[in-house]
Amino acid sequence: MNILLLGSGGREHALAWSIAKSRHTKKLFIAPGNPGTAEIGSNISLDVTDHPAVIAFCHENAIDLVVVGPEAPLVAGIVDDLSEAGIPAFGPRKAPAQLEGSKSFTKALCDEFNIPTAAYARFTEAEPALHYIRARGAPIVVKADGLAAGKGVVVAETIAEAENAIRMIFSGQFGAAGAAVVIEDFLTGEEASFFALSDGETAIALASAQDHKRVFDGDTGPNTGGMGAYSPAPVVTPEIADRVMREIINPTVAGLKARGTPYQGVLYAGLMIGKDGPKLIEYNARFGDPECQVLMPRLESDVVELLMATVEGRLATQQPVWRDDAALTVVMAARGYPGNVEKGSRIRNIDAANAIEGVTVFHAGTREVDGEIVANGGRVLTVTAIAPTIRKARAHAYEAVNKIDWPEGFSRTDIGWRAIARENG
Ligand code: AMP
Ligand code: GLY
Repeated sequence: MNILLLGSGGREHALAWSIAKSRHTKKLFIAPGNPGTAEIGSNISLDVTDHPAVIAFCHENAIDLVVVGPEAPLVAGIVDDLSEAGIPAFGPRKAPAQLEGSKSFTKALCDEFNIPTAAYARFTEAEPALHYIRARGAPIVVKADGLAAGKGVVVAETIAEAENAIRMIFSGQFGAAGAAVVIEDFLTGEEASFFALSDGETAIALASAQDHKRVFDGDTGPNTGGMGAYSPAPVVTPEIADRVMREIINPTVAGLKARGTPYQGVLYAGLMIGKDGPKLIEYNARFGDPECQVLMPRLESDVVELLMATVEGRLATQQPVWRDDAALTVVMAARGYPGNVEKGSRIRNIDAANAIEGVTVFHAGTREVDGEIVANGGRVLTVTAIAPTIRKARAHAYEAVNKIDWPEGFSRTDIGWRAIARENG
């Protein structure tokens, strides 16, 4: 098969790495890709927002499957347009991608189909929102309704903080995403990510992972896209995983089907596992980044087989096989991330890091200039290791991080701390 993968981050390098290993893959194109994907496939420059151009490329290159990495093209309806042109594409259409695109869409779905989540209210004006917050009390969570690149959520410890968040969201700085706010009760427990595939009718569980959203050690500092992850997440026991499928994933898939907008693609559920079981914090309509970088190394099954079964409605016959090993990834970011960063600093010794047992360095924001790799974004590399325990995976990942010669970069030093505290008992 000829496959076109859309995206350019660490997630896409991990997907490309896995797709390239498939017995089904003949040619792999990545648009736009990064220097990591260039080593295993052909990077091409295609404007992904120009759907007719993507369709034309697919026809010219006999593409059998398009895999969409990030959420923006999904929300823009790329899968609708590709499907109408007869090109199989992995990922939800525009309507069900609202699971990620709109917080209130997901909240209303939870209400309608009894999916456990935090109690909430939605407002399009500041005054009633402020009133609700004062009546409800703190801590409380304030969210811009639309896509705000992970920056539209404020977990407010005090009423004053929540009030400021309301003013910030309605100030217009989020554009259309800030036209409405969702205000939620604060949930307690341990967070985990859970991934499942849905073909519109049947959902199958993939695996769990845990992300590290704050930029600094000890889960401090501002929120980021994710500074590191590991899989599996010990908090997601087999019993919890069953409940997630039964109480959250299956009702979502059945609900979207009943509404006439079946969901085809990966469901990434952000969960809070509390005393009374799992609750849904949010859905994403794509693989997580950096969670994908720890899922793919653990996946023993052929990823293309799973992606095609999803697109063709054959998931009921699939049973993905996972390695028992744990995987852990450490993000190396440019100094200043998640704020402004400088581009262009040189990165050396990635090969030495890759030579360590079980280690794969996935590229994210990198660029090749005159045969050298330079930083070209906020999150630059994700250094992944797989080993029999999280503790060993972490040791190998950090050994690899230390081999990489990049003075302008930094990483957290405590990725995996929760799981390691558990392994320590
Ligand atoms: P979201 O973008 O909805 O995933 O929210 C970002 C982060 O805010 C989550 O990963 C949680 O750490 C936190 N968060 C969101 N909603 C809640 C909630 N209802 N209770 C507690 N924490 C939350
Ligand atoms: N790691 C968080 C995300 O992909 O949204």
